Amino acid sequence: MEIARVALGTRSYDITILVGGLVNIKDWLQKIPVKTGALVVADTNSANFFGSVLLESMNAVGFSATMTVVPAGEASKSLAMADCLYEAAIRAGLDRSGTIVALGGGVVGDLAGFVASTYLRGVSFLQIPTTLLSQVDSSVGGKVAVNHTLGKNLIGSFYQPQAVLIDPQTLATLPDREFASGMAEVLKYGLIADANFFRELTADAQDIGRREPQRLARMIAHCCRLKAEFVERDEQDTGERMLLNFGHTVGHAIEKAGDFERFTHGEGVALGMLAATRLSELHYNLPEKTTASVKAAIKAYRLPTQATGLDSETLLQFMGTDKKRVRGSLRWILLRAIGQAESVCDISINSVTEALQGILAVE
Ligand SMILES: NC(=O)c1ccc[n+]([C@@H]2O[C@H](COP(=O)([O-])OP(=O)(O)OC[C@H]3O[C@@H](n4cnc5c(N)ncnc54)[C@H](O)[C@@H]3O)[C@@H](O)[C@H]2O)c1
Ligand SMILES: [Zn+2]
Repeated sequence: MEIARVALGTRSYDITILVGGLVNIKDWLQKIPVKTGALVVADTNSANFFGSVLLESMNAVGFSATMTVVPAGEASKSLAMADCLYEAAIRAGLDRSGTIVALGGGVVGDLAGFVASTYLRGVSFLQIPTTLLSQVDSSVGGKVAVNHTLGKNLIGSFYQPQAVLIDPQTLATLPDREFASGMAEVLKYGLIADANFFRELTADAQDIGRREPQRLARMIAHCCRLKAEFVERDEQDTGERMLLNFGHTVGHAIEKAGDFERFTHGEGVALGMLAATRLSELHYNLPEKTTASVKAAIKAYRLPTQATGLDSETLLQFMGTDKKRVRGSLRWILLRAIGQAESVCDISINSVTEALQGILAVE
């Protein structure tokens, strides 16, 4: 078992990473101090795979738990779906001592967390993330949100869970493309904060790709600790936490240009990291061989290095509407070296266009 502590004063909590943790979840649940009414929020996939074991275990240790299942997919991260969950919570008689449990990927985590942060001005929140992306990223740090028709994650808050349980065995059923998508965020941690970790990921691509649970547990725990450090230093995302957006400026534009269908979030981020690394070559004289090693790692995890069918004008236009704009100029997260990221604003449009060519041109 590995524990990653998120130290935030009175809002501190533990992330428990345990192979087989879900089938034996009673042990973890026993440690939750207040066990009253609970609403489990799952999507059609996570409910199907893990819903009954969780519900039975919760009821066996003294919770009075019911489950609401939302359709799988980003469209469920909406105010309308939040409203359905408020109704379910009210009908289940959840009072202020109640608990909302997220069982699923980032969609369920963000949605259930948003509901937990607002229902009765806030009730207890537990996270049991079941995708790689949610285990290494969205379940750490307390950002909760729903989407608006005018943009993603526009309505939300910071709301830390009381505890998080990660069972790497849940990843056995995850589709390959979703696994690869999560690996983009894993590589990101190495690139921005830990060169040794990046080297390890490059060397162990085959083992990790086989999803050996103990190997995944070690990797996930390391990511949670790295993200926790960023969150501890900048909980409200006004400074250093922004480094976690490495690859995301271009990544979001790619997702949008593909109508959020052609590219997963992780695929966009992988391409965005490659563009940002090339931009670091132009801005910081980062050696070409560094870009080559980033590209090799992305390939090793079956993520794209080429965004075919897109053009730089469209991407630039979509980046112009990026919500991370600072006083009219785009904020870039660049690499001084692998493991060392910096936030930069004064980047010329010509350099950006040149960096984009690297991921748009057919090899
Ligand atoms: N809060 C944050 O800090 C933060 C950070 C990054 C991303 N996010 C958000 O996370 C969301 C993306 O999360 P995601 O990639 O987990 O997507 P997701 O929740 O849509 O899950 C991806 C797919 O995997 C399925 N699934 C979940 N667990 C499974 C399992 N164990 N086996 C098989 N299938 C399974 C889901 O049903 C879904 O179809 C986005 O909405 C994004 O905005 C939030
Ligand atoms: Zn991301």
